[in-house]
Amino acid sequence: MIYEDLKGRKVLVTGSSSGIGSAIAVMFSEQGCFVGVHYFRTKDGAQRTLEQVNKKSDGILLHADMRDEKQVNEMVEHFAEVAGGIDILVNNAGSLIDRQPFETATVEYHDDVYATNVRSVLLATRSALPYLKKSSGNIVNIGSVAGHHGGGIGSGIYAGAKAAVATETISMAQEFAKYGIRVNSVLPGFIETRFHERFSSAQRRKEVAEQTPLGRNGTAEDIAKVVLFLASDAAGFITGEYIAVNGGLYMRA
Ligand SMILES: NC(=O)c1ccc[n+]([C@@H]2O[C@H](COP(=O)([O-])OP(=O)(O)OC[C@H]3O[C@@H](n4cnc5c(N)ncnc54)[C@H](OP(=O)(O)O)[C@@H]3O)[C@@H](O)[C@H]2O)c1
Repeated sequence: MIYEDLKGRKVLVTGSSSGIGSAIAVMFSEQGCFVGVHYFRTKDGAQRTLEQVNKKSDGILLHADMRDEKQVNEMVEHFAEVAGGIDILVNNAGSLIDRQPFETATVEYHDDVYATNVRSVLLATRSALPYLKKSSGNIVNIGSVAGHHGGGIGSGIYAGAKAAVATETISMAQEFAKYGIRVNSVLPGFIETRFHERFSSAQRRKEVAEQTPLGRNGTAEDIAKVVLFLASDAAGFITGEYIAVNGGLYMRA
């Protein structure tokens, strides 16, 4: 699917060294976008993403711990300077970090989950905002199905953080509409990336696939396709909305 309006857009994808973010970065490059490939710990993964991006378009590597205000400001400024602005921000970086049930969770774990998944969205959005105002650009936030159903064992705090991302998507959409900036979110279900290689057993992954009405777990590309749609003019009258991409694993009215 080619969205003609995306050609030449300047797109910053946080957490594109792996999984969903990497697929999003590559798919934007296939539309002829200039792509900011961001990483924190996985430089080789980001380099692999950039190699893929360079096959179709152009981009740069960006580094920042998304929990750190100064690092994020510098990273976003650097991208805007090299790219000549920002049209689309994809707030994708995030992690479960660990599985810790409420009964035994540490305060440090709680705060790290919120810094990684929620503070990161605030920091990148605030830094990118002056550029998005100029371009009447848009933002896509990556939430999670966990924000709807509360998550599995030990992922309740992460679920709460992702619910905050979904709600803040609506708040941001309301606040930024006057600038012509749209803000939407995609809520992935169970997607086969490093995330579940780290946090879910092979048995669990198989069980979830069997329970999913469409009969499989998702791929990073399943998510990327929907991000592209929301970022394109095809979704030009959509803001403050979410699209759940979960194979029917969790349906709601
Ligand atoms: N996979 C799923 O089933 C699923 C379901 C619902 C929602 N999600 C969400 O989708 C997004 C992508 O997840 P994924 O499945 O693609 O996982 P992944 O393969 O583990 O990728 C996570 C990305 O986030 C980055 N990241 C994590 N902590 C960071 C920090 N402190 N600063 C900067 N970057 C950081 C990682 O960067 P480095 O590796 O370079 O440090 C990596 O690029 C996350 O927000 C996740 O919560 C995933």
